[in-house]
This record gives sequence, C-alpha cells and structure tokens, in this order.
Amino acid sequence: MAALIFYAPFVVLCALLLWLLCSVRRRQPGEPPLMNGWIPYLGVALEYGRNPLEFLRSMQRKYGDIFTCKIAGSYFTFVLDPFSYGAVSRQGRNLDFQKFAIGFSHKVFGHADFNDPVYSYNIKDIHSIFRQTLQGPVLQQLISTMMENLQAVMRRDEGHGWTTEGLQVFVERIMFEAGYLTLFGKEEEAEAMATGGATPRWLFMRQAMEDFHAFDKAFPEMAAGLPIHLCGRAFRAREALAEKLHHRHLKRNKCLSALIERRMHAFDQMEQLDEKEKARTHVSMLWASQANTLPATFWSLYYILRCPVALDAAQAEVRRVLGESGHTPGNLEKPVVLSKDQLAGMSVLGSIIEEALRLSSASIMIRVASENFTLTLDTGKTAAIRKGDHIAMFPQMMHMDPEIYEDPTEFQCSRFLDENGQKKTDFYKNGRKLRQFLLPFGSGVSECPGRFFAINEIKQFLTLALCHYDMELHDLAAAPLETDCTRAGLGILPPKHDVSLRYRFRNCVTVKEKTVR
Ligand code: HEM
Repeated sequence: MAALIFYAPFVVLCALLLWLLCSVRRRQPGEPPLMNGWIPYLGVALEYGRNPLEFLRSMQRKYGDIFTCKIAGSYFTFVLDPFSYGAVSRQGRNLDFQKFAIGFSHKVFGHADFNDPVYSYNIKDIHSIFRQTLQGPVLQQLISTMMENLQAVMRRDEGHGWTTEGLQVFVERIMFEAGYLTLFGKEEEAEAMATGGATPRWLFMRQAMEDFHAFDKAFPEMAAGLPIHLCGRAFRAREALAEKLHHRHLKRNKCLSALIERRMHAFDQMEQLDEKEKARTHVSMLWASQANTLPATFWSLYYILRCPVALDAAQAEVRRVLGESGHTPGNLEKPVVLSKDQLAGMSVLGSIIEEALRLSSASIMIRVASENFTLTLDTGKTAAIRKGDHIAMFPQMMHMDPEIYEDPTEFQCSRFLDENGQKKTDFYKNGRKLRQFLLPFGSGVSECPGRFFAINEIKQFLTLALCHYDMELHDLAAAPLETDCTRAGLGILPPKHDVSLRYRFRNCVTVKEKTVR
C-alpha cells in the first residue's frame, strides 16, 4: 500500500506526459507546415501575443505564405498572400464566420447566443438591419445627427481660453459623446430635470466613457479566452453600460438612430429575451461603433497636427468645402451642415484617414472550417484544412509590405491620392495590381457594415476641429508615437501613450492659415 502511495504521483505524471505526447498533432500529407510550439496547450501563443506582426514575418521567412500554428488550444492556419484572400472568401460553404463571431460576442457581451435556432431573429435579419440603417440613402440622416452632436459637444469648450489636455482625451471626449448620442439618442435635459433625478448629460457621458474604457481594456484578455466573470472591473462596467441602454431608458430618448430603433423593435418581438439581454446586445453595438473609431480619429488628427504638409492641405480642403456651403466667418449661430456628397468629395481628408488606418490597423479575419476541405491558393498550390481549424488573415502584413507601400512605417498624407487629387486605387505586388490593398474594415462576410458612417464621422470631426480650434501638439520634434500592439487582432491599435495638446476654441468658422507651428 505504501509503495502504491509512493509511486502514484510518478505514474500520474508519466500518464500525463504520455497523453501530452500522444495529443501533439502531426502534420499530415498535403497539410501546411505546422508549428506546435513547446508549451502544452498554449503552443506559440506567447510568441504570437508579444508581437503578432514580427512573429508572422519570421514564420513567413521560414515557411512561406501558409502555415498552421497552435495558439491557446486551437489551430490557426495563416494565409499571408493577399492575392489568396479571395480564395478564402470563396470558401463560404466550408468556412464559417458567424459561429465564431457570435459565440465570442455572446461570451464577452453576455447577450443571447443567436446561433441557437430558438431565436427567431437570425443572422440574416441582423445583417439586413445593418445594411438598411447604416448604408445607402439613410446614411444622410445619421451624418446630419452626428454633425449636430459634434458641434453641440465642441461648443462646450467655447470661452475656456487656452487649455492643455491629452490629444487622446480631447478626441475621445468629443467623439464618444457625439457618437453615443447619434446612435442612442438623448433625453431632453430640461425635460429630464423637470421629472427629477436626472444626471446632467456631461456627468452621464463621463461615467459612460469610463465604463466603456474599463470594459474595453479587458478585451485582449477576453479575446484570449479569459471569462468576463474573472475580469471584475470589466464585468461591472459592462453591466453599468447595459443599465444605461435598458429599453425603458432608450424609449424616453429623442433622435434614436434607425439602427437602434429597428434592433429594439426586433428584440421586443422575441419572447425569449429578457430586458437585461436586450440591453447587453446594445452594449455590443456601442462597442462596435466606438472601439475602432476612437483610435482611428486620434491617429488622423495626430498625423495632421504633426505634418505641416498634411495640415495645409487639410485646411485648404476644409476652407473650400465650408466656403462652397456658404459658411461665413464668425457665425456660430449657423451650424455647419455638410452633405454625404460634400464629405465624399473631401479626398485630402479621405487620404489622411486611410493612411492613418493603414498605419494603425491590426485586425484579424478569422473563419472556422466546418468540414475537412482543400484550399487552393492564388498560386495554384493546395493546402488540406481540417474541420474545426481556424483560417486567419492578418492584413497588417499587407499594410506594412514595402513592396506595396514604399517606406511603410512613414506617414505620407497623399499616399491614397492619384495625380488628379482623386482617390488612388492602384497598388501593386509582384508587378500585379491588388484588388484589395487596404483592409481596416475586414473583408467578405465579416466586412464592417458601419464603414461608410465611420469614415464620414471622422471627416466631420476633422473638419469641425480644424474649423473651430487652434491646436498645438506638444513636442513636435519627438519621435512618432508607437501603437500598443497588445491589442493586435482587435482592430485599430491605440497609441502606447497619450501626447499633450494645447488648444483653444475659436469663435470663427474660417480655418486660419497656419494654426500649428
Ligand atoms: C474606423 C472605424 C471602424 C473600423 C476600423 C471597424 C472595423 C471593423 C471590423 C474589422 C469588423 C469585422 C470584425 C470581425 O471580422 O470579426 C467590424 C465589424 C462590425 N462593425 Fe465596424 N469598424 C469601425 C466603425 C464602426 C462603426 C462606426 C459602426 C457602427 C455604427 C460599426 C459597426 C460594426 C458592426 C455592427 C460589426 C459586426 C458586423 C457583423 O456582425 O458581421 N463599425 N468593424
């Protein structure tokens, strides 16, 4: 008996080692090169997590454009050749996006799992609401509301004189509130005060933004599989946001966007959903609409303020467009109104935004193999893919490819303009024109439905910021800010740290000739 007790831990250890050895996957004929890593279960998760771009570059040098890595218990086959992205998109029958995305969203946001057939509201309905409320003619209404909200928030800075604040704080304070009110509407402040117990809007927004940041901060851990219940602050923040987005509050609001109105109506039809679940689904929309837009707006303004050529060109474009729409100097009583077409014609701001997105975007496009199948790449090479494995595309590799973009780490404000000052669409690799050369919004089934609104709201913010503020960045000679790559895979990377901005609200709608020195 004593011997049995003595040897038992040794036997268990041997059995565990044997199990680990036997469960190591071996590459089968026809499959891409395989990297199991040396840590059981985690595989290469640590190397990948430290710096995905550098890790994938080193793997590409060793194995070429397609290889499989074990990451946190799952197998990811990376397809790095941008010409083969189309080949992945065409595998819609064998590759599933929704199950993975909805499953992840269900875990993080705590809403119902819409993969479950019990819900009458299915993925097709969700997507048709996105298309009908975020794209096409209805976009004009969304843009107009955003413009009004941006100006209302900015005017709170009127009369404050020169102020110093972080650029990120400045951008997020304005964009978060304006974007929130544009989607979820607002209760009339006077009305709310009259009925008693209302929080002033600025305080409500400050709390909402703090909760948004606390929740968003835990995203890398949650994406790596940590349950939200173990991220205490993030969990409480999500629930606080959900409380604000409860239908009983939203129904009191004026100017709700069509997107939220339609989703509220659809959720109210579903008996299986309780009120909390409906509210948590709105938190997912708040996150989708803000998490990438805030850093994208930050980088766009940051690069404008750092680059005199970009600043001059942007100011000239803003002056032209405001002049054409009859905005007169000093007339703050006449709000700036720009149509969808006028915004579309702002190609200089368009190029600046695209370049800022190229430099800061690190989203990953993931699909899950629903069957064993053979993927044929653009070169004709084939790769056997196992059911349950993930296919991953990481467009940052393309965005930082010196063959496609000369000096890829440099900000060049007119990189996306052709010789006529219009949007440039000719980018080449290996002498071949790329169909897709910039993918901050994803591609195919997972392409962002809010992309048109996103570009427009950033253009609106930049137009109004250049129009209404004098702005000076602190320490222009410092090296450019770095991105925080711990969030790689989640979209637009924020800066590693903030940078100081000195600004003053100007009581004049003309853009001054040189505001930043
Ligand atoms: C610069 C700003 C933005 C960027 C870079 C961006 C990027 C993306 C990306 C890459 C995805 C796909 C994620 C995946 O593959 O899992 C996505 C999805 C999504 N985005 Fe955006 N987005 C932005 C702004 C917005 C805005 C303003 C809205 C809405 C008002 C929005 C709504 C959505 C929604 C609803 C989805 C999920 C779509 C689905 O379920 O298929 N996004 N976004």
